[in-house]
Amino acid sequence: MKLEAVPGAPQDGDLEFVLATDKEFEEIVSMSHGIYGGLDYLPSRYHSWIGEKDRMVVLAKKGGNVIALLSMFIVDGGQTALLEGLRVAPWERGRGVAGVLQRFCCQLVKHRYPSVKVMRLTRDDKLTAKELTKYRVIAKQGILLLQFNAPELSSRLSSLPLPPGPSCPPPPILLNPDHVRSVFLERGGILKDLLPNQTVIQDWQPFQALPGNHDLLRRKSLRWMADDLAQPRVATVCTPPFPVPAGPLCFYLNIDVFGSGLRGTKEQLLSHLAAFAPSLPGDVKCQLFLPPSMWRPMADFCTSVLGFHLEKGYTEQYLLESDM
Ligand SMILES: CC(C)(COP(=O)(O)OP(=O)(O)OC[C@H]1O[C@@H](n2cnc3c(N)ncnc32)[C@H](O)[C@@H]1OP(=O)(O)O)[C@@H](O)C(=O)NCCC(=O)NCCS
Repeated sequence: MKLEAVPGAPQDGDLEFVLATDKEFEEIVSMSHGIYGGLDYLPSRYHSWIGEKDRMVVLAKKGGNVIALLSMFIVDGGQTALLEGLRVAPWERGRGVAGVLQRFCCQLVKHRYPSVKVMRLTRDDKLTAKELTKYRVIAKQGILLLQFNAPELSSRLSSLPLPPGPSCPPPPILLNPDHVRSVFLERGGILKDLLPNQTVIQDWQPFQALPGNHDLLRRKSLRWMADDLAQPRVATVCTPPFPVPAGPLCFYLNIDVFGSGLRGTKEQLLSHLAAFAPSLPGDVKCQLFLPPSMWRPMADFCTSVLGFHLEKGYTEQYLLESDM
């Protein structure tokens, strides 16, 4: 489908904007080569994204070839547009294409979804001074990137006890969809005060703690845990592993941590690992997104007790917002 040109299109007027289809997949993959050090999530999401309800994946083409991509996903009961997947072909970078595509997509969202009030995005790179005037920083989480070999870990998992603590808390609870609603999403939800700015950030996607997001989150087959149903101190959500292009057998396993409580976090991490590691064939890049103060103790636990390899030092995930 062709989309009409918008004011603000590049001076030379040689870009056209189209909605993405399955046909452009190979072009997107080759354009994205090397992004995120070979850990690009887009190849594993692309086909489901283009058919997803309330999501638009827009491509910028030049001379008939794809040179940029951006997705806008409408969440929070129609109040928020999530900006995701932004990428510009390496040979077109530094010429403002990203800005032009973003402005086009914002216009499209305003036209199709007049209820949208704000645009949100997550990033892990430093914002320029100009960008800091464009966005409000809504929340931030620390990023702990680790690597392990799944078959090797699986052979050791049952003999990996937690170091003894001062008390022995009850085991973590695997949440069912009703629990997820009451703990995370209901007005005054039990965990609401522990979430970063009342937002469930699930694997880079921010969802406000609103019941309207329940169905959407339910469709993702996530694994949710908390240390307690009535008064949780810490809760986690694990995204099912998905392959990344870094190697033939390389998977990403991403876990978001909310609240505090080191022992509870370790127990929930072990439970998620026990649930997923045995089905994985090779290396796993594991990303933990967690409150910044938990980064160091969790890094120590994962390297010295679990034997994981620390892939990089402390970095941050920022949740940004601007008015539409
Ligand atoms: C980051 C990337 C998309 C920037 O594209 P670009 O066309 O070279 O960017 P330019 O510097 O020419 O354009 C700057 C505009 O893009 C915006 N921009 C740059 N990086 C951005 C980012 N990571 N997220 C959102 N907007 C970004 C700037 O705010 C600026 O907007 P303005 O025109 O309103 O001022 C490109 O370098 C790329 O594809 N990198 C690899 C993938 C990647 O890191 N994507 C970011 C995902 S969060």
